[in-house]
Amino acid sequence: VLVKMVKICCLGAGYVGGPTMAVIALKCPDVEVVVVDITSARINAWNSEQLPIYEPGLDDVVKESRGRNLFFSTDIEKHIGEADIVFVSVNTPTKTQGLGAGKAADLTYWESAARMIADVAKSDKIVVEKSTVPVKTAEAIEKILIHNSKGINFQILSNPEFLAEGTAIQDLFNPDRVLIGGRDTPEGKKAVQTLKEVYAHWVPEDRILTTNLWSAELSKLAANAFLAQRISSVNAISALCEATGANVSEVAYAVGKDARIGPKFLNASIGFGGSCFQKDILNLVYICECNGLPEVAQYWKSVIQINDYQKSRFVNRIVSSMFNTVANKKIAMLGFAFKKDTGDTRETPAIDVCNGLLGDKANICIYDPQVTQDQIERDLAMNKFDWDHPTHLQPTSPMAVKKQVTVSSDAYSATKDAHGVCIVTEWDEFKTLDFTRIYEGMQKPAFVFDGRNVVNPEKLRQIGFIVYSIGKPL
Ligand code: NAD
Ligand code: UGA
Repeated sequence: VLVKMVKICCLGAGYVGGPTMAVIALKCPDVEVVVVDITSARINAWNSEQLPIYEPGLDDVVKESRGRNLFFSTDIEKHIGEADIVFVSVNTPTKTQGLGAGKAADLTYWESAARMIADVAKSDKIVVEKSTVPVKTAEAIEKILIHNSKGINFQILSNPEFLAEGTAIQDLFNPDRVLIGGRDTPEGKKAVQTLKEVYAHWVPEDRILTTNLWSAELSKLAANAFLAQRISSVNAISALCEATGANVSEVAYAVGKDARIGPKFLNASIGFGGSCFQKDILNLVYICECNGLPEVAQYWKSVIQINDYQKSRFVNRIVSSMFNTVANKKIAMLGFAFKKDTGDTRETPAIDVCNGLLGDKANICIYDPQVTQDQIERDLAMNKFDWDHPTHLQPTSPMAVKKQVTVSSDAYSATKDAHGVCIVTEWDEFKTLDFTRIYEGMQKPAFVFDGRNVVNPEKLRQIGFIVYSIGKPL
């Protein structure tokens, strides 16, 4: 029997669309996967030697399938037209204007993707929500598709993505679960089955969960909210540790030993960053408010409030420790990305720490193994939306950034002649730095502010540093 090759088209070649489709293509040689995007520079990069995102293991996966059954293209209409399954993994940022500004998800890209699918489709399609979207988005998408369908049958599925950046390939190879939500109709069930067969190429059957559409949509927001809440919980405890002499690493270890709590994701930090946690919780808060549940909204909002508190607490600690002023002092910043093993800087706490220190007139020298100078300059000059009071915060002016911020290509030159070092990303290479050499190059007293608990404070104190580590005795 000749089995028809399944064709997949994915709209959005970003952090999710790129790696996810590359892994599907690798694991399903009988499926043709085309990733399309409206940004041609991104597509060109996916077709080049220098992929547009840094992710351990990604290069090998792409190299193996690209040109075989994995393609990157800007010809969106053609590939939607040919596909049986269309994934939509476009960006869904927080709205900055109009109704729900500062909280609600901006579905502009989503809606235009849906309209494009309706416009060009000439055969039946399964449309898969891969982006993280508000509950009930599938209903809106269904309306757009069906009212423009010219008799074509569309089935909408929700298949949220749970990968984390920096470990995306591992997470995709071996997911805790794959979640597929669909309609409880014969056509809906058939669509769920078709998508299930794609994942079943490498994911054990018992890890593929099927639910109704709204459960799948809400589970994604809930999972991110729970994860972020763990970090805010341990960060809240870190403040109390500093006030009492307890050690947050010991407390987190002892707490995490309870099998009901578990040991993972309990590292105290300067606060969580990344493009999703804050956006998705704000989205959840907005949905709660719209459904007349202000108490539930306030509960989740407090997770972000603690996160903001943790970032400003870190800045205040730096300034107050350095005799209440950092004006004209050189501060070395180690790391800028929102976590290790990624070059992504979206919502990185480093931006808030920099802006706080720049507001106090510090000179900052930044080193991050994966973030470019251009990116840092853009991030610091970017308008930042204040979710709590819908206005735009004053970013640092591009001129001040040019004057007060420099970027270094290694940790030793970044820290040379610095008064203080602050560690904002937990890159592995920071653990093995020669701190004696760093100490010798610095102004005295030499301060270290470890926002990620990567250094051993005792060892650094023996060298001569004054050390502040999150949640540790001073
Ligand atoms: P991204 O910004 O990296 O990528 C989105 C891409 O979509 C961009 O390249 C953009 O040009 C493209 N795009 C926009 N409109 C389009 C259209 N109409 N047609 C074709 N392409 C279009 O975003 P991302 O980080 O990949 O996130 C995408 C979604 O996945 C978001 O909803 C996010 O919440 C969710 N998500 C992200 C992660 C993560 O780790 N980054 C993990 C899970 C879920
Ligand atoms: C997170 C989730 O982990 C993914 O499951 C989800 O798919 C994704 O969001 C998404 O929806 O976008 P990601 O943001 O890529 O993934 O990375 P995480 O590892 O979750 O880290 C997020 C932030 O929390 C980082 O700034 C990290 O440094 C911080 N963090 C994490 C801590 O401060 N402490 C921890 O113990 C863990």
